[in-house]
Amino acid sequence: MTSYQPEPYKIKMVEPITLLPREERQKCIAKAGYNPFLLRSDQIYIDLLTDSGTGAMSDRQWAGLMLGDESYAGSRNFYHLEETVQDLTGYEYVIPTHQGRGAEQILFPLLVQAKGQYVLGNMHFDTTKAHIELAGAKAVNFIMEEALDTSKEHPFKGNFDLQAMERFIQEKGRGAIAAIVITVTCNSVGGQPISMANIKAASAIAHKYGIPVVIDSARFAENAYFIKQREMGYAEKSIPEIVREQFSYGDVFTMSAKKDGLVNIGGVLAIRNDKELFQRCQSMVVPLEGFPTYGGLAGRDMEALAIGLKEVVQEDYLTQRISQVHLLGTLLQDAGVPVQSPIGGHAVFVDVGRILPEMPKTQYPAHAFAVALYVESGIRAVEIGSLLYGRDPETGEDGLSDLELLRLTIPRRVYTDNHMRYIADSIARVHEKREAIKGMAFEYEPPILRHFTARFRLVE
Ligand code: F0G
Repeated sequence: MTSYQPEPYKIKMVEPITLLPREERQKCIAKAGYNPFLLRSDQIYIDLLTDSGTGAMSDRQWAGLMLGDESYAGSRNFYHLEETVQDLTGYEYVIPTHQGRGAEQILFPLLVQAKGQYVLGNMHFDTTKAHIELAGAKAVNFIMEEALDTSKEHPFKGNFDLQAMERFIQEKGRGAIAAIVITVTCNSVGGQPISMANIKAASAIAHKYGIPVVIDSARFAENAYFIKQREMGYAEKSIPEIVREQFSYGDVFTMSAKKDGLVNIGGVLAIRNDKELFQRCQSMVVPLEGFPTYGGLAGRDMEALAIGLKEVVQEDYLTQRISQVHLLGTLLQDAGVPVQSPIGGHAVFVDVGRILPEMPKTQYPAHAFAVALYVESGIRAVEIGSLLYGRDPETGEDGLSDLELLRLTIPRRVYTDNHMRYIADSIARVHEKREAIKGMAFEYEPPILRHFTARFRLVE
């Protein structure tokens, strides 16, 4: 046995990338207001902004595009997608959407019965939180405490603190809770998995009180892989079996198919067996996304997605995927760079709070590190910390995030292990020269979702 897992594919087509000279990179980032979101992609050497829609499709998926049936209603690609999702998840009712948030915008207004209700979760992703709030509810997180300490080892840092969640339900009363959202894997704490036992227990609590369970399933296959590796009783089960069991504890799922769907665009909203809820979702998909058999996607996109959902549960694919992310994480750990540990599924989260403890949170240390990393290496990464968190809407207070993280998100089937080595070397160099990293101050601070379009200057 080799100790590493080579890619279970060979490369048929390449997309050249170029590393601009350092002085050019300095000019580019200054012109972009020291905000990596405002860089042009051709100014970037390796792009780790997100794993969402940035993956490479297989030859079969590209062939599937040619089988696109662009009928407005009843496209054969819809039926292929529907059967694939039914088979994979056991859910009866399937609605395609243009991406994950397309499913969220349909579902949450239908689940929230009254303004001020709560939607509980292990840790809601930003767009999920936004749609919960747009529907008039409040999003509350019950992530286990260990997840917020990057140096603490725990095999399932995406787990709920079940006791805290149940206490909350009892305190507020069943009527105050609109739904429970289980996010697999938990993106916001580092692509950390949630165990089957915890999914089952969270779902049992919800059902005891008659609360619907939504699975936010963007990275369902990566979560299943971790369960197989780390949870007692699952080593001999196949990934499709584990995936099906995971979904069996939910009533509804939303899926951003841009991750484990292995496509560049697409999403799914599916309902296990509540026909009435399905009909209500179906009537909302028409004005929001499109006719229920295409929901904002071209026929060819649905075909590529149906094929992607079959490829993503193949074990050799998942082994290489997770081991590549793991390789990057361990190279960084070996270089003494603090990262969320254990290493997650889709990304390595660098704990910049521990690298730059003296820098005030209001100078956004992880964002400052991202800017230094771009100048050093042409790599784009993204801050998950106080900049993203924003100000308290009532007091205007800033610098509120518990953690100042830099997310190195790895696109699927795009970069090789040599790219991982280059990334690790570059980060180790920035880490060594950390004393020289300058904090950030706003030149322009947008009122909402400020991190996307803000402009900064360096604090001298
Ligand atoms: N849920 C999770 C857990 C996500 O990570 C995302 C997107 C969504 C829902 C929304 O899906 O983008 O298809 O509308 N995450 C991306 C990211 C954007 O970079 O982590 P979408």
